[in-house]
Amino acid sequence: MSEAEFVVVANRLPVDRVAGPDGEDFWRRSPGGLVTALEPVMHQVDGAWVGWPGRPDLHVDPFDFDGTRLVPVQLSAEEVELYYEGFSNDTIWPLYHDVIAVPRYRRVWWDAYVKVNRRFAEAAAAATAPGGTVWVQDYQLQLVPQMLRELRDDLTIGYFHHIPFPAYGIYAQLPWRKQVLRGMLGADVIGFQRVADAGNFARSIRRLFHYETKGGRIVVPEEDGSTRFAVAKAYPISIDAESYVELARKPEVQARAREIREGLGNPRKILLGVDRLDYTKGIRHRLKAYGELLEDQRLSVEDTTLVQVASPSRERVESYVNLRDEIELTVGRINGDFDTMDHTAIRYLHQGYPREEMVALYLAADVMLVTALRDGMNLVAKEYVACRTDNRGVLVLSEFAGAADELGSALRVNPHDIDALKDTIVRATEMPGAEQGRRMRALRKKVLENDVERWSQSFLAALDEARSLRAAVGS
Ligand code: G6P
Repeated sequence: MSEAEFVVVANRLPVDRVAGPDGEDFWRRSPGGLVTALEPVMHQVDGAWVGWPGRPDLHVDPFDFDGTRLVPVQLSAEEVELYYEGFSNDTIWPLYHDVIAVPRYRRVWWDAYVKVNRRFAEAAAAATAPGGTVWVQDYQLQLVPQMLRELRDDLTIGYFHHIPFPAYGIYAQLPWRKQVLRGMLGADVIGFQRVADAGNFARSIRRLFHYETKGGRIVVPEEDGSTRFAVAKAYPISIDAESYVELARKPEVQARAREIREGLGNPRKILLGVDRLDYTKGIRHRLKAYGELLEDQRLSVEDTTLVQVASPSRERVESYVNLRDEIELTVGRINGDFDTMDHTAIRYLHQGYPREEMVALYLAADVMLVTALRDGMNLVAKEYVACRTDNRGVLVLSEFAGAADELGSALRVNPHDIDALKDTIVRATEMPGAEQGRRMRALRKKVLENDVERWSQSFLAALDEARSLRAAVGS
C-alpha cells in the first residue's frame, strides 16, 4: 500500500455507503464541514483518510475517492456496540457534556475502546510516509495519538477535540481518566473549540500529573528522562461559509424558501430548530418555552410556526431512544392542544435533508433557535448566519454552545431559564428590521472571516511549528 504524507484519522470515513436505485451500493461523499475543510489540504499534499465505513462487519480494501486515498477500518457488530455506542456515546459523550445524561462506566466498553483505538493507530502508522503528519479527530479516538507515537516516533501528530472538555470535577469521574489524558498528550498539538475547554484540559493535566502547563504549552516528561512540548489551545471550527452563500443566492433555492413558507400557510414568523436528535441540544427546553408561549397567548398558531428538524442519531443508544419518545410525546401534545384545521404549532421532521433544502429552510426562517445545553461548537448557528445574505433573521443562541464565544451579536440565552428563553423568543419575533440588519451584519462578518479553511490552516500551521521545534531539539 502506498504511504501518504498527510493522514486524517477519524471515526468515520468521509463517504457514506448508500443504496443505488438499481440495488447496487455506491459511495457518496458525506456532507460534513470537516470533509470540505480538508479537501484542499488532501489534494495539495498526497493525503489519506483512515476511518470506519459506517456499517458493522463491512470489509473494504483501501480505495481512491475524489483524489484521496481512503483506508477503511473494519469494526465487528460487537465492537460497534461496545466501542461506538457504548464507550464513545454512552460514557464519554454524556460525561463531556456535563453529565446532562448519566454516563455509564463499563469495563468491557473500555476494553473495546482500547482495542479499537489501537486498530486505528496501527492503520494510521501503516498509511503514513516517513516524517509525515497525522491529524486525529475527536473523542472516539482519544488514545490514538499516544499509541501512534509509540509506533512511529518520526511523525508529527495533531488531535482535534470537536466536543467540550469538561471541568475537572466532572472529568474526575472517569475511571480511566489518566489513560485518556495520556492518550491525548501523545499529540504535538491538541486543539479544542473554546478557550475554556483548553483550560479545563490543562487543569486536569496539572491535577492528575503535576506537569507544568503555561500559556497553552505543556511540558511532557518522556520515559527516557527527556521532555517534549505539547500545545493545547483553542481553534474554533467553522463552516465553508462561501458555499452556503452561493447556495443562498441561487434563484431556485430562494424560490424553494418561498414555497416552504407558503406550504406552512404563510405565517408571520417562522421559528426554526435544526439538530441531531440529541439530549445535548436543548430541544425539550425549546419546546417547553414555545408551548408555554402558546398557552400564555403571547404567540398564536395563526401567526407563528415552529419547524423542528431533528435528524436521527445513535438510535440504538438507550438515552437517545428515551429522548425521542419524550420529544415526540411533547410535540404531539402541543400540536393536539393548539393546532387548528389550517395551522400547525410545530412541524416536526425526524429526517435529514440535503444541504440545498436546508439552505432554503434557513432562508424561510425568521428566527433560528439554538438552545443547546452544552455543545462543542454548533455549526447550524454558523450555517444560518452564512445563508442570510439579505441581512435579515434573528439568531437565538445558547451561551453553552461553543459558537457563543464568537457570535456575540446573537440574542444570547440560558436555555435552563425558561422565562428568559420565552422572553428572548418573543423579542426575536418582534425585532425591528434595522436591529436585525445591524446584528446580522456583525454575525456574518465573523462567520465569513473565520471560515473552516482558516480553521484548518491555523491548526496545520501550529503543527508545522511543532515539527520545526522537534527538528531543532533533535527528537
Ligand atoms: C458530533 C461529533 C462527531 C460525530 C457527529 C455525528 O458532531 O463531534 O464526531 O461524527 O456528532 O455523530 P455520529 O455518532 O453519527 O458519528
